[in-house]
Amino acid sequence: MKYALISDIHANLAALEAVLTDIDRRADVDAVYQLGDLVGYAPWPNETVELIRARAIAGIAGNYDSTTGTGSRHCGCKYEDPEQETLSHLSYEWTRKHVTPVTRRYLAGLPFRLDLWPRGGHIPGGPRLLLFHGSPTLNTLYWTEDRPDAFGSQMAGIAGAKAGDAIAFGHTHKPWHRVVDGVHFINTGSVGKPKDGDWRAGYVLLTIGQGEPHVEFVRVEYDVDRTMQAIRGSELPDEFAAQLRTGGAPR
Ligand SMILES: [Fe+2]
Repeated sequence: MKYALISDIHANLAALEAVLTDIDRRADVDAVYQLGDLVGYAPWPNETVELIRARAIAGIAGNYDSTTGTGSRHCGCKYEDPEQETLSHLSYEWTRKHVTPVTRRYLAGLPFRLDLWPRGGHIPGGPRLLLFHGSPTLNTLYWTEDRPDAFGSQMAGIAGAKAGDAIAFGHTHKPWHRVVDGVHFINTGSVGKPKDGDWRAGYVLLTIGQGEPHVEFVRVEYDVDRTMQAIRGSELPDEFAAQLRTGGAPR
């Protein structure tokens, strides 16, 4: 099975459309799943959810989805400085104010995790693909690349993963892949708000089912000016537009 895994779209409809077009032009993708954070930071939360639903793309709740969906006071995001904290609050308040009841209910109903059995679940010992947003314990926990292997092993145990399985997640907006004790850990990066210095929309193609899982990181150019203009034309902070242009890297 070849899966396209898309995460952290963050209401960036232009980036999502480009990624789906890129997936569609590949004839060999069997299924698409989204790993959370559909909304926040850009002005198309409802349109993003509508497109995900129209395409019947199943997925899980990111911290932004579960907090927006349940009316939490806080998005569960991390800040590096007081300015970031202020901007983050503005984005979350904007999103809460602009989601429709239909969008809110959809976000609140998304599951915490998805377990995929690529060979259908009728083969003993077949590999599994487990999807989370942040980590198997919390959707707000940042699983960064510099965490030690022991952390991966601990998370694999909690998730119920064994050698040959894959655990995929997002949340940090920085893609990476590592194998610890035969378990593949894949951070899919971000479709709509990359933070690795590359402005292009990112997603993962994962082949799993027979033999070693194979991971391919894909980057797609999209009409970033369209999203930047839409952000500047909304009450969202203009800083979010500038961050898209640099891929989250310092200006
Ligand atoms: Fe995110």
